[in-house]
Amino acid sequence: MKPVKVSTRGATSPASPIRKLVPLAVKAKESGKTVHMLNIGQPDLTTPQPMWDAVLKNPPAVLAYSPSEGFPELRRAMARYYEKLDIRIGADQIIITTGASEALVFAVASIADPGDEILIPEPLYANYIGFSHMLGVKVVPIPTRPEDGYHLPPREVWEEKISPRTRAAIVCNPGNPTGTVYRPDELEMVLGIAKDHGLFVVADEVYREFCFDGERHRSFMNYRDTEDRVILIDSISKRFSACGARIGAVSTTNREAYEACHHFSQARLSPPTLGQLMAVDAFAFDDDYYAELAGAYVKRRDAVMEELSKMPGVLCEVPKGAFYAMAKLPVDDSDTFAAWMLSDFSHEGETTFVAPGGGFYATPGAGKQEVRIAYVFEADVMRRAMEVLGKGLEAYPGRIG
Ligand SMILES: Cc1ncc(COP(=O)(O)O)c(C=O)c1O
Repeated sequence: MKPVKVSTRGATSPASPIRKLVPLAVKAKESGKTVHMLNIGQPDLTTPQPMWDAVLKNPPAVLAYSPSEGFPELRRAMARYYEKLDIRIGADQIIITTGASEALVFAVASIADPGDEILIPEPLYANYIGFSHMLGVKVVPIPTRPEDGYHLPPREVWEEKISPRTRAAIVCNPGNPTGTVYRPDELEMVLGIAKDHGLFVVADEVYREFCFDGERHRSFMNYRDTEDRVILIDSISKRFSACGARIGAVSTTNREAYEACHHFSQARLSPPTLGQLMAVDAFAFDDDYYAELAGAYVKRRDAVMEELSKMPGVLCEVPKGAFYAMAKLPVDDSDTFAAWMLSDFSHEGETTFVAPGGGFYATPGAGKQEVRIAYVFEADVMRRAMEVLGKGLEAYPGRIG
């Protein structure tokens, strides 16, 4: 009998830092602890009622496949939403996907072959590493620094990293995990580099409306002279608090990239039908909806920042967008600390689950003292979760400084 063997790609695939400690959190809950789940961007806000009504008041008789590229009603609704944002994308340039996650896989698979390279500002959204690995594409990190608010380094730093295999840059704006909202001059620099070196720009804008303190989001798609090199990634998960609907989109005016994504979409048949039905009317929500949304998250962020500022040895830049904060903690190793918080620590029956920072870096060994905090709960809950985190830091045996 010959044994079976998984692929090298399978055997070496990294676990997501967002989810790898979940078994410890489950155990902690089973032991009776309350666990503040700040490891994942799962908002607590109620999914808007009109979205539920769309399926509950008028359920389809047959839960059928949709077209591979998604229902035309949803694509048209998205095109109208984009038009209001001065993003010129037609309904026939949008492909609805199973979350932004699938949109990213389609985008990168359509522009990079195994062995090709993609530039990504670091710290980065951890799953960029996971799906690039799956596609055999190498992530080349572009370093950013907390003292610069994680804004982009100058052109020379990017150009040093470009090789004959470089195919694209992925830019997440506002940034996960940094909360950075990029300025127009930064977007123009990236587009300039992309033009000079024949690169695509994959623009992950799933947190577009989550901008605070007067910051204004600008899209790569607002530029008219990109020569069809931008691929826009979107999602309803965060802006409509509908992570479980699994609806995203990949859009581009680049005909060849569109066709490639379209063929990939056919290979997986169709995106979720119910989620699409829920999303159609949501894209018509007005500015008040988004203002209220951003207002809710500012309160949460402010609560987190205030509590973190009271903790000796903790450093955290004020995030200007999305709903995450990268914090540097006085610990020997944030993996060990996060695991210890779940398995060994509690304060008045509670503990706080944060995502260890290492997984948000493609650079080996980086982020060892950082954690990502998702401020996805009401301000009072966030305050309490931070208080528990602070108590944990005081008691942690691997505390340094
Ligand atoms: C930057 C970024 N892109 C993509 C995704 C994936 O979103 P979706 O739920 O639509 O797959 C996330 C989810 O947290 C994200 O933060």
